[in-house]
Amino acid sequence: MTDVPESILIDDIATLVTNDPGLGEGAVGVIEDAALVIEGGTVAWAGPRGRAPAADARVDAAGRCVLPGFVDSHSHIVFAGDRSREFAARMSGTPYSAGGIRTTVAATRAASDAELLGRARGFAAEARAQGTTTLEVKSGYGLTVADEARSLRVAGRVTDEVTFLGAHVVAPEYADDPQGYVDLVTGPMLDACAPHARWIDVFCERGAFDEEASRRVLAAGMERGLLPRVHGNQLGEGPGVRLAVEVGAASVDHCTYLSAEDVDALAQAGGRPEPTVATLLPGVDFSTRQSYPDARALIDAGAVVALASDCNPGSCFTSSLAFCIAVAVRDMGMTPDEAVWAATAGGALALRRTDVGRLAPGARADLVLLDAPNHLYLAYRPGVPLVAAVWKDGVLAH
Ligand code: NIG
Ligand code: FE
Repeated sequence: MTDVPESILIDDIATLVTNDPGLGEGAVGVIEDAALVIEGGTVAWAGPRGRAPAADARVDAAGRCVLPGFVDSHSHIVFAGDRSREFAARMSGTPYSAGGIRTTVAATRAASDAELLGRARGFAAEARAQGTTTLEVKSGYGLTVADEARSLRVAGRVTDEVTFLGAHVVAPEYADDPQGYVDLVTGPMLDACAPHARWIDVFCERGAFDEEASRRVLAAGMERGLLPRVHGNQLGEGPGVRLAVEVGAASVDHCTYLSAEDVDALAQAGGRPEPTVATLLPGVDFSTRQSYPDARALIDAGAVVALASDCNPGSCFTSSLAFCIAVAVRDMGMTPDEAVWAATAGGALALRRTDVGRLAPGARADLVLLDAPNHLYLAYRPGVPLVAAVWKDGVLAH
């Protein structure tokens, strides 16, 4: 016996964002005065209200907006410790450096399994309450075989989108032997971690891993069946973007500093059937006082752009995709439609997922009801908690 109705009609939706141009208007496939039917965890029907089929139960959207749940394709929520003072120092002029990662590594190694899991669950719930229904989670604050494997096991308790980032920075024990650390990451650490992850990631940046080391890490992961993604071009121009495109990564994340060649490479990769997505992380540039990436130039060139949070204790401690959308619209040249698409369908592409990020029949019933008549309000009312309800797999989850 279950008291979950077999089908649910969400009725009187003022603005339904489907991300399916075949179903509605514009790039985000908007249907006005719409309804949507959920059945068995997926979307069974979406269309104009007057044509909605009958269902077992009815939810009144009361003239508000429904959109796909956010797909946050980049987070680091398995960690312990606090770096609020580092943030405050940055706001007074100290530049961000990758070296701060080691502070979190020390705290994470010292934490119990229960503490790590409790905190990760807390951040995942916080994200869910703000409309995130798919969340990628990385390791990268353990940097020993045991601590990386443990971080991935914790990540796997909160999501299916788990990324092995042993190559976040060189572990402190290997400060004088970076090559030895890459041997560890591509050898015993990968052996222990590959069974727990879907993705392999590397921080390809000055102060972390150079092009050759990054290529080795990605190749080793891919040989073990992991799919590649890259942190690149965060702190300056560098080889990250072109390496990501070269290996066919699903995404290259940050893209704050891009040369004309990088933009060309992302534009070329944007036209592939399986693109390398340029995932922009506005919260990072906000919290590190860097300039924002030029999303307009990327989109105009033909790149596929996603927005993600990068929620982590160092460079950006927000889990709010609504905040990222507001910044992207205000300061990165994105229209509200483009930003909402990037935080939903764009994130899905960055995770090579076709079942999320859209609300067409057959898609997962992962959706958000906003306390607003349309999705423009996500940028129009920055900082206001607009999420009224969240369904995950067709079940009310917030
Ligand atoms: O994506 N850039 C590398 N890693 C994280 C930051 C991690 C940290 O500072 O703790 C990022 O920004
Ligand atoms: Fe990151």
